[in-house]
Amino acid sequence: MTQPISETFNQRNASLDNKLRPSSFRDFIGQEKVRERLLLCVEAARQRNEPLDHVIMSGPPGLGKTTLCYILGDAMGVQVKATSGPVIEKPADLAGLLTSLNRGDILFIDEIHRMQRTVEEYLYSAMEDFVLDIMIDQGANARSIRLELPRFTLVGATTRSGLISAPLRSRFGITSRLDYYNAEELRQIVTRSAGLLEVSIDNDGAAEIARRSRGTPRIANNLLRRVRDYAQVRAGNHISSDIADKALTMLDIDAGGLDEMDKRIINTIVCKFNGGPVGLGSIAVSVGEEPDTIEEVYEPYLIQEGYIKRTQKGRVATPIAWKLAGLEAPEAAIQPELGF
Ligand SMILES: Nc1ncnc2c1ncn2[C@@H]1O[C@H](COP(=O)(O)OP(=O)(O)OP(=O)(O)O)[C@@H](O)[C@H]1O
Ligand SMILES: [Mg+2]
Repeated sequence: MTQPISETFNQRNASLDNKLRPSSFRDFIGQEKVRERLLLCVEAARQRNEPLDHVIMSGPPGLGKTTLCYILGDAMGVQVKATSGPVIEKPADLAGLLTSLNRGDILFIDEIHRMQRTVEEYLYSAMEDFVLDIMIDQGANARSIRLELPRFTLVGATTRSGLISAPLRSRFGITSRLDYYNAEELRQIVTRSAGLLEVSIDNDGAAEIARRSRGTPRIANNLLRRVRDYAQVRAGNHISSDIADKALTMLDIDAGGLDEMDKRIINTIVCKFNGGPVGLGSIAVSVGEEPDTIEEVYEPYLIQEGYIKRTQKGRVATPIAWKLAGLEAPEAAIQPELGF
């Protein structure tokens, strides 16, 4: 029952990313603050010979949450058992996972915000007191048994931190919020990955891929793979900025790295709502995505890159967003004090 849960997830997870995934803090580029804090916690726990405190990692997809979890396992010298929120259907599934752990082991629950409430409630005592009270039988025979658990570390990952309930959130001792990577960090990641993929790349080539990667290592690695194909067939297996540009242009990858949904959001604000201000709910209906996802997955990047602004009245398109939509920004967008 419990084995398949973690196995299927591991297999899926292992497939694509593994080769390029850094396995130690040393190889993990960027996220300086998060890295430093986690390193300190690991060192302190190791000195005391104690398991690591529970960790919650949040941030948009592809920034390194899963990677950091395995790095933590490696740094603590413990096993990582991985599963995902929606896969744990019943309290018994959770019990099976938890009782299979050894002291100090990490249980990694990906997409922890999608765990069922009934299961989540069992986690509270497991995280706090390392016990699990499970009901067995039904009706007149119903009784609860208490399972003692080893002292384990729960690492939860979520792209939607806003959806984590307060009781669950409060049981994590260490909170790590990952943010988009800057161009230089992504350039280093591309260079490292190119080395592992055995393709030669120069600084400008790596910078070109980095620039179009939406601040996200997973995208950077994916683009690198595509550019590598191009370089292999047409450019003697060397990636320069010219080759990277040609390959990415051929693949219709936006020069600023925006994806389909990013562009739809921008087009909606500019064209349908005349540049805003427009409420999150109206944007969500218009692009057919949940408001929470827009707010936590897409918007942070668009705001960081200066395409949209959050104001009290709603979201507003900036002049570069108008330009991207192929329109000239009205006076009010260029000089916000006139309009908003
Ligand atoms: N700091 C980093 N340095 C080098 N490579 C990285 C870094 N962070 C992530 N990567 C690369 O990006 C890939 C995606 O990272 P990861 O799977 O950890 O993201 P995630 O945050 O768990 O995403 P999701 O929310 O979709 O599960 C990894 O396989 C790894 O190769
Ligand atoms: Mg992940």
